[in-house]
Amino acid sequence: MSAGIIELDHLWTQFGTQIVHRDISLTVHQGEVLSLVGGSGSGKTTMLRQMLGLERPARGEVRVFGQSLHHGDPEDLRRLRNRWGVLFQEGALFSALSVYDNVALPLREMKTLDNELIHDLVMLKLGMVGIEQHHANKMPAELSGGMVKRIALARALALEPELLFLDEPTAGLDPDRSESFVNLVSELRRELDLTVVMVTHDLDTLVALSDRVAVLADQQLIALGSVLEIAGLTHKFICNFFQGERGQRALEAVKDLVADINAQRPGRRGLEQQGG
Ligand SMILES: Nc1ncnc2c1ncn2[C@@H]1O[C@H](COP(=O)(O)OP(=O)(O)O)[C@@H](O)[C@H]1O
Ligand SMILES: [Mg+2]
Repeated sequence: MSAGIIELDHLWTQFGTQIVHRDISLTVHQGEVLSLVGGSGSGKTTMLRQMLGLERPARGEVRVFGQSLHHGDPEDLRRLRNRWGVLFQEGALFSALSVYDNVALPLREMKTLDNELIHDLVMLKLGMVGIEQHHANKMPAELSGGMVKRIALARALALEPELLFLDEPTAGLDPDRSESFVNLVSELRRELDLTVVMVTHDLDTLVALSDRVAVLADQQLIALGSVLEIAGLTHKFICNFFQGERGQRALEAVKDLVADINAQRPGRRGLEQQGG
């Protein structure tokens, strides 16, 4: 957990006169799940888009796998894109394409794989996310929200990425489906040795998956640490976020978990508190 897979280096973001990010630096380490949290409008989605090379910061630099996203050769950026998968919150699947064609899409775009191999890979990926083969010819509208998320995950993993981006992966799912999706991500990240960057405001998802949480507020990265470390801070956004029965329940669960982990693995990374 030492190499920087993603490095934000003194990042500034500005739209017109509005400053969204003020001099933010952040490193995402190999193999970790890093969650981005912050109030509505704090710049989470924008930061994710910057990590994907879809948005250019006003100042500063974003490097992924050591490569600058905004100063490099477009061909290098294209190659880089094959090393990550993205699960967007909206439009998780193309509604006009079958399940099969959705998952096959990134494989076909490679233009180097024959149909037989694509078929085998699609079935393999569907199996990995717990979708039975007979669903392959269905259209997204025929499926439950939980299935759509799983298939979108299969598509995001189609090119066997090292890095996975999740934008509100459990938004809109009922608690059971949400929990089973979280368990799936948790299994896959271990099996596939993934590094994950996730935006979420769901506390159960946050607690269940995050190794570290980055908190955006006041245009800055106000805190970076484990869920438990973050929950102990007194910033207004953080207090509101963890307040209430649901937050408290999630925290109790993570306290038990952390106690177990600490018993097995002393010397966890300490809290890094930044800015104000
Ligand atoms: N393309 C854009 N043009 C102008 N303003 C934008 C644009 N994208 C985002 N913003 C503004 O930047 C701020 C952060 O947006 P966003 O990253 O979507 O926040 P979050 O995902 O944390 O809710 C918001 O005030 C939003 O209105
Ligand atoms: Mg957003």
